[in-house]
Amino acid sequence: MSKIAKQAIYDALKGIIPTYANNATKGDLIASGAITTVVIDGSQVGIVLDFGADTPTNADAVRKSAEKAASAVAGVANASVVMSATRKAPNTSLQGNKPQAAKAAPTPTAIPGVKHIIAVASGKGGVGKSTTSVNLALAFQKQGLKVGLLDADIFGPSLPMLVGLNEKPEMKDKVIQPLSAYGLKLMSVGFLIDVDQPVIWRGPRVMGATQQMLKDVAWGPLDVLVVDMPPGTGDVQLTMVQQVPLSGAVIVSTPQDLALIDARKGLAMFRQVNVPILGILENMSQFLCPHCGETSDIFGHGGAADTAADLGCDFLGAIPLHMSIRETGDTGAPIVASDPNGAIAGTYNEIAETLMKTLLV
Ligand SMILES: Nc1ncnc2c1ncn2[C@@H]1O[C@H](COP(=O)(O)OP(=O)(O)OP(=O)(O)O)[C@@H](O)[C@H]1O
Ligand SMILES: [Mg+2]
Repeated sequence: MSKIAKQAIYDALKGIIPTYANNATKGDLIASGAITTVVIDGSQVGIVLDFGADTPTNADAVRKSAEKAASAVAGVANASVVMSATRKAPNTSLQGNKPQAAKAAPTPTAIPGVKHIIAVASGKGGVGKSTTSVNLALAFQKQGLKVGLLDADIFGPSLPMLVGLNEKPEMKDKVIQPLSAYGLKLMSVGFLIDVDQPVIWRGPRVMGATQQMLKDVAWGPLDVLVVDMPPGTGDVQLTMVQQVPLSGAVIVSTPQDLALIDARKGLAMFRQVNVPILGILENMSQFLCPHCGETSDIFGHGGAADTAADLGCDFLGAIPLHMSIRETGDTGAPIVASDPNGAIAGTYNEIAETLMKTLLV
């Protein structure tokens, strides 16, 4: 079989047009420069789209069309499209809140009955924090721990989709009762509000909502509460470190250089406020062929390991770019739950075990 030309993939992606608020467009995927990576490995194609700070309103349709178009190119057996972003929390920044923080800075207090709180963070959006959070939480649980998962991404909650839950939590004695799926205690702002309605969160409300989800929820007893953070360094991060003692942060990064620069920012933020870095996890690191099971280093695997060494923190492990991770995430059956004995679940388990040794649980 002849080699698939990159140009053929680019040509196939012509004419797919992301649209933005008020039906605005910046041209098709090619014209708008959204394609950051096209990798061809035999008959497998991996494509990364990056829309910067402006997520298209038809993002899902764009991804599906791109996968369909690339799959239709002669010789392509499978095309996987992943979206990356530089989504930033609106109107919030650690810097901008400094004076207010200095005035009010509360002392962090533990959540009753919760032994460890771990933040899963990254500098950049779309690198797989939410996917990592839910699968790590499940892996901890498999080791026999009592585990909770807080989706602190109030700007783009993804936990309801990741675990396939669309329920409202109950209140008992003015305390919110976490929902439950796969044996995990769960809370997300997505369970409280209608996610289809755009919510403009401003500084004080962001802090209020974050605080409420930490302090007004019946979390205990838990060995570990995993917190899925929004991207970047804003009010949610600030509220977290002010309100509760964090046992540490796991930094998620793709091997691409740009994401690593952002990972460094995320890392620096936690270091600045004396939160231990538990390590860097490399996500979407290799392309694992869904057919033959062979791996290939499509994104220059190893970037996160080098950065971890450079920055003097642990490298936790690498999760491959694999369609099953995205598909199981989209359908509410995370891979550690739906394929518990598979190789990918095995890697999450190893990472959970490493973290447990560090945390002494
Ligand atoms: N290892 C992987 N292989 C394939 N797809 C992945 C992998 N990790 C994440 N994805 C997919 O990439 C997309 C982004 O992942 P996810 O939502 O977990 O990122 P995030 O960092 O939480 O994003 P945000 O910053 O928007 O909160 C999702 O569609 C997810 O299913
Ligand atoms: Mg997320």
